[in-house]
Order: sequence, then structure tokens, then C-alpha cells
Amino acid sequence: MGHQTTSPADVIRDIPKAELHIHVEGSLEPEMMFDLARRNGVSLPYRSVEKVRRAYAFANLQEFLDLYYQGMAVLQTEEDFFALADAYLRRAAADGVVHVEMFFDPQAHTGRGVPLGTLMDGLERAIVRSRERGVSVSLILCFLRHLTEREAFETLEEAEPYLDRLLGVGLDSSEVGHPPSKFARVFAAARDLGLRLVAHAGEEGPPEYVWEALEILGVERIDHGNRALEDDALVARLRDDRIPLTVCPLSNLALRVVDDLAAHPIRRMLDLGLLATVNSDDPAYFGGYINENFRRVAEAVDLSTAGIETLARNSLDASFAARSPRAGA
Ligand code: ADE
Ligand code: ZN
Repeated sequence: MGHQTTSPADVIRDIPKAELHIHVEGSLEPEMMFDLARRNGVSLPYRSVEKVRRAYAFANLQEFLDLYYQGMAVLQTEEDFFALADAYLRRAAADGVVHVEMFFDPQAHTGRGVPLGTLMDGLERAIVRSRERGVSVSLILCFLRHLTEREAFETLEEAEPYLDRLLGVGLDSSEVGHPPSKFARVFAAARDLGLRLVAHAGEEGPPEYVWEALEILGVERIDHGNRALEDDALVARLRDDRIPLTVCPLSNLALRVVDDLAAHPIRRMLDLGLLATVNSDDPAYFGGYINENFRRVAEAVDLSTAGIETLARNSLDASFAARSPRAGA
């Protein structure tokens, strides 16, 4: 055999990795959206799959969220949630993902009359299948931060019968105007139930929101965290405490968090010694699953093979499967 160079795409495909920032509802491909709409008698404001894809041009997070909540309204039965999660988990396995910590947004379903048990049972069935194929999966329940503290508490109470199926809780949806501190008491209650804590922060919101997620909510991981780089003391804290960032390059590009992938901070995060990871966020909306995120950002910021390997290793180190709850937490 000669000395064949391994291409970055081969390295990315073959390396074991964990996905820590995937909203399962964000993996709803337009084809499945149409199938489920037909099956469930839901009308969509689009005439074709191509027209849906053309509508996915976002100026900011809110423009995406509006279509994201609209799209997921086709999910109604246990079978729908099974099909959604099963399709994502099969794609993840094909991308060399060995472990998934999967977000879901129960309030986006219970708020339109779908019982929590319907989605819990559909997701669980897909998760069991995935484990049988050798990919471990845990669930993180996200509270919608544009809703009230009371509604988050009601959701946590409703979820108590399913505690043994939940790894943790997170915080997502419209960031600016909804600081982590709004959910301080809900997160304290979730921690008392033994749940692990994460939160989206610093995607559009300021570094102060990342501080609040750490200091007030006590999260163990920050989802996104891009804007943390604006604050040197915050960078030092994230580095010294090995707080992972679950970064989502194609999401950042689609939602204009970065103007250009070449300006993406992933490489700077590694250079600063941060425990950064690469994830897909909402792959059906942003143009690619985890390996596509790796390939596109690695090319754009000229990451070496060693850089790619560091990011993959970080994802395994940053997973809750690898980290016991923080002392004192
Ligand atoms: N929900 C789904 N994707 C999200 C994102 N990138 N930010 C905030 N909330 C979300
Ligand atoms: Zn997200």
C-alpha cells in the first residue's frame, strides 16, 4: 500500500463523535413535513418541498423560530414522533455519532394539545431502537424561554412521571429579552430532581446571559456561547472550569450569528483552550447534519486534522456520559 493521504472528509466520517446540540424537531425534513401533513390532515402554507426549502432564508433567530414552530405542528401522534427521532438517529449513526444528548421542546407540542405522553412514548421507542444499533441516546427537555416561569414549572411537574427517561433540562427559543435568570427557580427545582442542566446562551444574547447561565442557573454546559468571546473574564472562567460549548456552525451562518463561515470562531475557541464541540442544532433547516457542519467549518477556517480530532474528542469529553455532576451542584 502506498501512503495515501486521508482527506478531511474521511477523517470526519470515521472519527467517533457525540452530538450534544440537536433539537429533534429541527431534524424534520420538508419531505416528512409534507407526509405527516397529509397523513394528519394539517394544511401547510407551502405547495411543494422546494417552496419550503426556499422559505428557509433567515435574517435572525426569530425568523427561524417562527417557521420551526409552524413546521412541527404536523407532529401529532406517537408514530410521528417515533418517525422523526428514528430518521435523525439513523442519520447520526451513519455520520459516526456514537452518543446523542437530544433536545426536545415539549411545550411546543403540549401547547397545541398533544399530550406529553404521546411524544415521550414515540421518542422512547426510537431511542430504544438506536441503543440496539449501538448508539446511546439521552433526552434533554428544553423550556421555551419566551413563555413564563409558571409555564416552565407546569411542564416540569408534568414531566415528573417520566423522570427516569430524562437526563436533564435546557433552555431555548427567543434569547434576547429572556435572560437565564428568569428561570432560576425552575432550574433549581430541576437540579433537586437530579436532572443535569444546560442552557442556550450567547447565541444572540450578550455575555451577561452566559454569566447568568453559569452563576444563577448553575448549568454545566453552554449551548452556542459564541458571544462569550467578547468577555475575557468569561473566557477564562469557561476555560478554567472546562465548561463545554456546543457550537453549531451552519446554524450560526443561517441565523446570521456569523456573516461568513470563514469568520466562524470555532478555531479561535480551540486556540483559547475552550472545550468547544461541533453540532447541527436544526439540521433540516440549516443545510446539514453533524458531518456537514464539521466539513464546512473545517474547510472555511482551515482546521487541521489535529483540530478535527480535538473537536471530536471534546464532544465525547463534554457529554454527560463522561462527566459526573459537578461537586456542590
Ligand atoms: N430552538 C431550536 N433551535 C434553536 C436555536 N438555535 N436557538 C434557540 N432556540 C432554538
Ligand atoms: Zn439550539
